Amino acid sequence: MVKIGNIELGEFPLLLAPMEDVSDPPFRQVCKENGADMMYTEFISSEGLIRDAYKSKQKLDIFPYERPIGVQLFGSDVDTMAECTKIATAVNPDLIDINYGCPVKKVACKGAGAALLQDIPMMVKMTAAVVNATELPVTVKTRLGWNDETKNIEEVAERLQDVGIKALTIHGRTRAQMYKGEADWRLIAKIKENPRINIPIFGNGDIDSPEKALEYRNRYGIDGIMIGRAAIGYPWIFNEIKHYFATGENLAAPSMKQRVDACRQHLKFSIEWKNERLGILEMRRHYSNYFKGLPHFKEHRMKLVQSLEPEELFSILDDVLVEFDGYFLETKAKKVDYAGVD
Ligand SMILES: Cc1cc2nc3c(=O)[nH]c(=O)nc-3n(C[C@H](O)[C@H](O)[C@H](O)COP(=O)(O)O)c2cc1C
Repeated sequence: MVKIGNIELGEFPLLLAPMEDVSDPPFRQVCKENGADMMYTEFISSEGLIRDAYKSKQKLDIFPYERPIGVQLFGSDVDTMAECTKIATAVNPDLIDINYGCPVKKVACKGAGAALLQDIPMMVKMTAAVVNATELPVTVKTRLGWNDETKNIEEVAERLQDVGIKALTIHGRTRAQMYKGEADWRLIAKIKENPRINIPIFGNGDIDSPEKALEYRNRYGIDGIMIGRAAIGYPWIFNEIKHYFATGENLAAPSMKQRVDACRQHLKFSIEWKNERLGILEMRRHYSNYFKGLPHFKEHRMKLVQSLEPEELFSILDDVLVEFDGYFLETKAKKVDYAGVD
């Protein structure tokens, strides 16, 4: 049984990765219904939160059916991070996660996210401050190191465990790699093999099929897997992996009705949660992911991204189902080519 503090996560949990502009409550709902064992909010700027910025505050919205759920924070200032940990704790999530992995300039060049991989004493200080600011378990998500020459995840894992983190997720790339090349899980396995390490270690990077999930589970000995891009437009990946682990068989790909239903549900909740206009606008980036590989879907997509009327949108989705009902879309999960922010 994998445990983070008192949170029981089963034998081999599958986690939905935090993804900015993606893993909001509507997306999390469809992932939860399709087998995600634990989820995180998008990363939340501690500077934004402390200023009461609307966008950062809104990211704190969590719903009871999402549990267990973690709030992910990032920042460059220790006191601000501690203060925000208190704000985040007040919304009563199951845990607080710190982002030490974000490689993008607007974060890493301001001393936050992956930048902390260049300053382990500062990372340790910040982590200790967050741990001390909350009763909740604190976890960390990070990368192998800053670049090829400084892969310091082994030291990071030991020192963060020493100051009280309760789990560590490692994306098998360096900051310098951004999203290029293949994620390398060998160092992740090494952390897991370290007899000093007793917290759960979750592997992350490039898992996009049940077969790969099983292969990596067996080869790298991790406690669970975090999945990001492969779940975008394909929330079924979680249950597919679980089924494959349990039976060695592949579940059938979702029917067209299941795809349309998931997309409808996602749209409906986006409208309810964000407001009509924003919910509709932000949903536009998701349509092609749900229907990737459908012949001539472009025509429907054009209509979907032009309308601002909920009823019209639902009716276009009905048309998609009428036109493609029974069509067997062979595409399984596929990593969406996002220049993600990590
Ligand atoms: C669009 C997008 C947004 C992301 N935002 C975050 C984030 O807010 N916090 C974080 O820790 N990682 C973020 N990431 C990184 C993912 O959590 C994950 O580490 C990365 O995508 C590798 O996993 P994957 O190969 O399963 O996608 C983001 C990735 C993408 C693609």
